[in-house]
This record gives sequence, structure tokens and C-alpha cells, in this order.
Amino acid sequence: MRTQVAIIGGGPSGLLLGQLLHRKGIDAVILERQTKAHVLSRIRAGVLEQGLVDLMREAGVSARLEREALLHDGTILSYDNDQVHIDFRKHAGSAVTVYGQTEVTRDLYEAREAAGAQTIFQVEGVEIHGADSDAPYVTYVKDGSEQRLDCDFVAGCDGFHGVSRKTIPESVRTEYEKVYPFGWLGILSETPPVNHELIYASSSRGFALCSMRNPHLSRYYLQCSLSDKVESWSDEAFWDELRRRIPQEAAEALVTGPSIEKSIAPLRSFVTEPMRWGRLFLCGDAAHIVPPTGAKGLNSAASDVHYLYHGLLSHYQDKDDEGIERYSEKALARVWKVERFSWWMTSLLHRFPEQTEFDLKMQQAEIAYLSESDVAQAALARNYVGLPY
Ligand code: APR
Ligand code: PHB
Repeated sequence: MRTQVAIIGGGPSGLLLGQLLHRKGIDAVILERQTKAHVLSRIRAGVLEQGLVDLMREAGVSARLEREALLHDGTILSYDNDQVHIDFRKHAGSAVTVYGQTEVTRDLYEAREAAGAQTIFQVEGVEIHGADSDAPYVTYVKDGSEQRLDCDFVAGCDGFHGVSRKTIPESVRTEYEKVYPFGWLGILSETPPVNHELIYASSSRGFALCSMRNPHLSRYYLQCSLSDKVESWSDEAFWDELRRRIPQEAAEALVTGPSIEKSIAPLRSFVTEPMRWGRLFLCGDAAHIVPPTGAKGLNSAASDVHYLYHGLLSHYQDKDDEGIERYSEKALARVWKVERFSWWMTSLLHRFPEQTEFDLKMQQAEIAYLSESDVAQAALARNYVGLPY
């Protein structure tokens, strides 16, 4: 089999790239290890930057989002009972869109199927060959038989545990990593959100986040220990702890109910350089991970897709390779700024096990500065709504 772009991974990065290329008549085949149902069962953050919404529109998959998504003009940061409102419109001139990543992925799959583009699910043993030559190809096993996909380019959109990153030889690859000494325990519940905007809450008991998917579905998180087990957190214990960490006013307004999902995720910052090796391009979680504070995971994947899509478009339409040759440099320049923001939000709002009284004072002083400084609020707002591509 032959295609122009072989896309490894049918998560949001691979699907968005595939859809954008398809609209321009560039052929791409997606190879996905799991089933579609499995991919759609993953629950991830739900705050979209305008840049991603624009890409969804360009890919022709924004109709449901435009009908159903919530626009948020700001967010609240709290420190015990003190609250700072960050006004996105005032400081950054735009809002963010609240719409679950699972829904983004669902819309992309529907569009891909409607377009008749090929996705091969449950592939095993994917290997990328000749990425540093003019004739790359991918081999994989489907239903027990070995297959070969020849292509012009390979897009490695296979997430943090995929094969694409590891295909780049160690001698040319540098990895940067920071693992945080805590996790996030998240629940989804069919209850109205406690507030019309998100609340990022720092408290002496640790961080908490009040988020939502829609007016009837809430998403809440608690900073937890890495040794915590989901089974040992009853719904009641979760709600009790959440009430203790958020401002009193919110705690009193909180509507609780049974959780419909509960899971623990570790927090990590990670970047690999370069993001291109010959004809192989890494996109999204395959190249970088952020801690979820600030909701940048999917949004930083989207900016990679933007750079790669435009690079490939220039190659095929104008025979201009500057975009693909500079892909890694352009993508990484933005990735590192997003890494900084996510690390900063995480460092500001969580309690760290080894934290000294001095460290605590620094967090308090930073929040105090944020609450009185328009400039500090503007810096947060501009990063939160999304840096330009
Ligand atoms: N072969 C084929 N597919 C693979 C392989 C492999 N060897 N390894 C992983 N995959 C698939 C996974 O099953 C998954 O569906 O690649 C996909 C990668 O999807 P994501 O992990 O969602 O990564 P990405 O599409 O870059 O999305 C980035 O999603 O993970 C979140 O927080 C992240 O929000 C961010 C966004
Ligand atoms: C979410 O709604 O799941 C969410 C929102 C904001 C974040 C992280 C997660 O920063």
C-alpha cells in the first residue's frame, strides 16, 4: 500500500492532521494501535485555545463545537479564601472554549469516516523504516499478517508511549524531563458546575480544580499522593476534601453526586529535541508532555499540527520545503513557552512535599502580586488563551 503521509496514532493530533490534509487533497493513512472505542473512552482536559478552534474550523469539524461549547471569558485563582479573577477578554482580547477533548476526537473520527479516509485500527508492531532516506515506509502487523505502507512522510502522532520518538537515534535525540512528586485525582459527575468559570484553587491541603464539560457535567480534580489508589477514594471522601480546598463560598454552593469516572494521573513535563528526523515528524504527546495545570496538552499538540500541516502543504502545492525543514525549530520555539507556563502554574498552585516555609512565602507573594498587578494578570491571561502560532 502507498500513501503520501503515513500517520502513526489516531489520537487528536493524528486525526486533526489527517483531516486538514484530506481537505487539501493530500492522502494520509492513519495506523492506530487501539480500537476507536478505546480511543474515545479516554477522558482528558477540555479547554481549547482559539488557535485549535480555528484549525477545527479549517478542517471542517467545528459545527457541533460551535453549537455546544461554552465560551469562558476568564478564570478564578484562589489561595485559601482569597480569589483573583483573571479576565481573558480584558487582558488578552479573547476567550477560551470549553469542550471536551473526547468530543474533539469524536468529531474528527466522524468527519474522517464521512470523507472515506482510511484508518487502520488494532495494528501491532509498527516500525518506521528509512526515515532519513527519500523513501520511508512503515511496517505493521494487522490480523496476524505483516503489512507495508510506503509514503513520502511519516507523522509520529502516537503519544508519549509510541514508537515514533524512539525511532530517532539516541545519538541525535535529547530528552528533557521533570516529574512532579504528586498526581491529580479526577472525577466526572453529572452535577451542575460549582461556578460558571473554572476555579484553580491552592490551599494548605493541596491544589484543587473545579472544571466542567457542560452545564450538567462537572469535572473536578484534587492534588493527591502518587501512592494513592483510586479505590481508596470514596466519592464522599473526594467531595469532603474538595470542599476543604476551595473558597468557602464555592464549598457552600457545591452540588455533589455519584462520580461516573474516577482516575489518577501523574504529572510530568517532558520535551524531546529535535522534533524532526529526515522525513519523520513528531507531533503532540509523542514529542512533549505538560502537567495539566493550564490545560495545554491538546493545545500544544494543535500548534505542532499547524506547523506540520503548513509545511506539508507548501511541499505539495508550491514545491517549497522551508516549512518542513524548519518544522522542529518552529514547533519547539512555541512548545518551550507552553512548557514554561504549565510548569509555572503547577509550581505556583501545588503543595510540594519538600516545600520550605520560604518556598511557601514565595508562592503567597506571587499570588499577592498577581492579585494587584494588571501586568501579571495580562501575562497569565495571554498564555492561558494561547500564544500566537
Ligand atoms: N502504533 C500505533 N498507534 C499507537 C502506537 C503505536 N505503536 N502507540 C500509541 N499509539 C496511539 C495511541 O493508542 C493513541 O490513540 O497513538 C495515539 C496517541 O494519542 P494521544 O496519546 O492522545 O496523543 P496526541 O494525539 O498527541 O494528543 C495530545 O492528548 O494525550 C493527550 O494530554 C494529551 O491533550 C493531549 C493530547
Ligand atoms: C479539565 O476540564 O479536565 C481541565 C481543565 C483545565 C485544566 C485541566 C483539566 O487546567
